[in-house]
Amino acid sequence: MINSKIQLDEQGRLKHFLTIEGLNRPILDEILDTAESFAGVTEQQVKKVPLLRGKTIVNLFFEASTRTRTTFELAAKRLSADVLNMNINTSSAVKGETLLDTLRNLEAMHVDMFVVRHADSGSAHFFARHAAPHISLLNAGDGRHAHPTQAMLDMFTIRRAKGPDFGRLRVAIVGDILHSRVARSQIHALNILNTGEVRIIAPKTLVPAAAESLGVEVFHHLEEGIRDVDVIIMLRLQRERMQGALLPSEHEYFRLFGLTEERLGLARPDVTVMHPGPINRGVEMASEVADGSHSVILQQVSNGIAVRMAVMSLCMGRST
Ligand code: CP
Repeated sequence: MINSKIQLDEQGRLKHFLTIEGLNRPILDEILDTAESFAGVTEQQVKKVPLLRGKTIVNLFFEASTRTRTTFELAAKRLSADVLNMNINTSSAVKGETLLDTLRNLEAMHVDMFVVRHADSGSAHFFARHAAPHISLLNAGDGRHAHPTQAMLDMFTIRRAKGPDFGRLRVAIVGDILHSRVARSQIHALNILNTGEVRIIAPKTLVPAAAESLGVEVFHHLEEGIRDVDVIIMLRLQRERMQGALLPSEHEYFRLFGLTEERLGLARPDVTVMHPGPINRGVEMASEVADGSHSVILQQVSNGIAVRMAVMSLCMGRST
């Protein structure tokens, strides 16, 4: 386990946002409540507040991203910060510059916050440990370890769809749990918010060892696992992280674990369907479900802006 205390200052307030693990309920509630007030800002005609005016934020994405990078950029701009998007493929990292040297050079430009996505688990903690004391580090996804802002925008989406009492909810996370930083962060968040029941549903080859110790119930059959659930979170097969043959074929995976209209009928009538994206249609879910009336997949993307505004402002010691 990576030390999560590094993300809090001496008063127990967020300084970095690296992982959900080790955080407490008041911090998660504060993020959700702050995001709620920012959601109003994103719906106004002038979508800006001056909270981070004069601050400089650098997006450092060493891995591909559509949703996370753009919503972090929009969030920073709506807080009136100056934003720099580093293109790693055209930076001096390709000439052999180390991560630390890249960090030091950007620090010399008086940066206040880094948003980092990297293929290595623990990379965001590494940056946080080595950054200058005034700098905040936000983890935009590190290897298989954590994707904390994704988990918080998912909690925000659930709270908006189902109300604030997570205790009465049965939530199922379906798919490639083994390789998913999103699932790991969601499970920690759902447990901290005292969710009634958290289920994971996956083939045996895609469940982490000792999964029950995470505080979840494990199912290997989709029909059994989604029975009477309030929320279904589908996950992408993380092919880029799989070593060896963990699955027979995508066709076979869809036959056994794909979410179809027919299977959706096993869940509660008002079930909410989620997916962090990117979706592989016809692999983890049918298009009719992805685009259907139970789906809040695009609302998750919109909510990402308000939640990332909340995390950025709280880490900088500013609130609405
Ligand atoms: N959910 C998510 O992290 O999407 P991106 O990889 O597009 O950022």
